[in-house]
Amino acid sequence: MYTKINTTHLDFFIKTLGKENVLTGLSVINYSRDHTENLSYPPEVVLFPRSTEMVSQIVSFCNINLIPITPSAALTGLSGGALPICKGVSISMKKMNKILKIDQSNFQAVIQPGLVNEDFQNELEKINMFYPPDPASKGSCTLGGNIALNAGGPKALKYGVTSNYVLNLELVLPNGKIIWTGSNTLKNSTGYNLTQLLVGSEGTLGIITKAVVKFIPKPKNNLLLLIPFHNIAQSCELVSRIFVNGISPSCIEFMERSAIELVRDMSFSNIPFSIMENDQAYLLIELDGNNKDYLFESAEKLYSILDNYNCGEILLAETSAQKESLWKMRRNIGLAVKSYSVYKEEDTVVPRNNLPDLIEGVKLIGNKYKFKSICYGHAGDGNLHINILRENISDLEWDLITKKAIREIFTLCINLGGTISGEHGIGFGQKDYMDIPFSNEELKIQKRIKSVFDPNNIMNPGKIFPD
Ligand code: LAC
Ligand code: ZN
Repeated sequence: MYTKINTTHLDFFIKTLGKENVLTGLSVINYSRDHTENLSYPPEVVLFPRSTEMVSQIVSFCNINLIPITPSAALTGLSGGALPICKGVSISMKKMNKILKIDQSNFQAVIQPGLVNEDFQNELEKINMFYPPDPASKGSCTLGGNIALNAGGPKALKYGVTSNYVLNLELVLPNGKIIWTGSNTLKNSTGYNLTQLLVGSEGTLGIITKAVVKFIPKPKNNLLLLIPFHNIAQSCELVSRIFVNGISPSCIEFMERSAIELVRDMSFSNIPFSIMENDQAYLLIELDGNNKDYLFESAEKLYSILDNYNCGEILLAETSAQKESLWKMRRNIGLAVKSYSVYKEEDTVVPRNNLPDLIEGVKLIGNKYKFKSICYGHAGDGNLHINILRENISDLEWDLITKKAIREIFTLCINLGGTISGEHGIGFGQKDYMDIPFSNEELKIQKRIKSVFDPNNIMNPGKIFPD
C-alpha cells in the first residue's frame, strides 16, 4: 500500500533539506527506538527540517507519493508513538528547537516543537516565570512531543497538563498545507477547538511546527516531604483524604519500596534516606506557594492527619540539594526499571479515591499470572505507572501473560471509573486495547476525524487505533 523510498525520492529530500539533513544507511537504526519496552522499528530515511516551509514541502511530497511519515523529536515516548512501524520517513523536529518569542506582558511564548522542556523552563526561570508540565524526562523530552501526548508530570496535580498551556498551534497538514488551529487569546469560543484536538493526537493529524504556550509566575516557596508507609493501601488511601481535608499539594507522588530499591541497586541516583525494614511505599508530597507560613500550616495539618496512619519517619527536605536529590530519585525510576528487565509499562489513571482499589487489583492480577510489578506515579492525579517485569518468564509465556493481564488491568481501570492512559498516550503499544475504553461508535468517530485530516493515512499510520 505504501511506496518504498527510492533514489528519486532521496534526491528530492536532499534538494529540499540539504544533504546534511537527510540520514540514510545504517545510522537510521538510531531512530528506530524510543523509551518503550524493547521495540525497534527503523525508518528508511530520517529527515531534519529546519523550517515550517521545509516540513510543508516534504510532507506534501510524501502525501503525493504515499510515503508514510512518523514525526519524532527526542524519542523519549513510552507508548511507541514515534516508532516508524510502517517504515517510510521519520521526520525529526530536533533542529527546530528555538524559543521564537517570549511575550512578558501577556505571559506567553512562541516555541518550536524540538525545544527541550527543561531548556524552556530554565529560560523562563530567568524572568521568575514557570511552565508547569514537567515529565520525568524533562531534561531531554521536547515540547512538541509533550503536546503530541498531552504530557503531564508531577506538577500537573496543581497546575494542569500540557493542554492547559497550549493556546494555538501552527500545523502542517498531511497534504502539506500550513494552518493555525486557533487564536493566541486566553479565551476562545470561536468554532471547533482544533488546538485541543491536536493536543494529545500523537502526531497522527499533522506536524506541529510552532506552538503558542502560556506560562505563569513561579511560586516563591515550596516544602517537600517524603513519607514512608508500612502499608501500601494506607499510602494510597491517604491521597484523597489530603484534599478532603483542605490541603492542596502541588505534587503527590507514589513510589513502591521496590521502585526505590531498584533506583538504588541500579546505581541511578543517590537515595538521600535509609530504606527501613517496614517501609512498603512512599509518598513524596510538595506544597508550594508564595506564603511560607501558609505552607507550614498545611504541613502541620498533614502531620496531624498522619497521626492516624502507620508510617515511618517523615523526611522534610531542608536544602534545595536535598529536594533535587529526592526528585532525581523519583525521576529515575522509569529508567531504572528499563535497565533492570524487559517490562511492559501501563499508564493507568483512575479517580484518586479509587487508587487503593487499583493497586490492590493490580497485585491480585500479578499473583494470578505470576509476574512481579513495580508501581509508582502521580498519585494525586490517580495516575499510576504499572511496570510488569518479565524477569525470567519465557518468550511464549510473556506474550500470553501480558496480553491477558494488561486486558484485565485496563478493564479494572474502566470499572473503577478511569481510563487506560493518563499521560503516555496509546501510540503503538496500547492500540489493541482501545476497545476497552471505547465502543465501536466512539472509535468510529475518532477514526473519521483522522481520515478528514489524513485521507491517505500517511501521517503516523498504525497508531492509536486497532488494526
Ligand atoms: C514518570 C514517567 C514514566 O512519571 O511518566 O516517571
Ligand atoms: Zn509519569
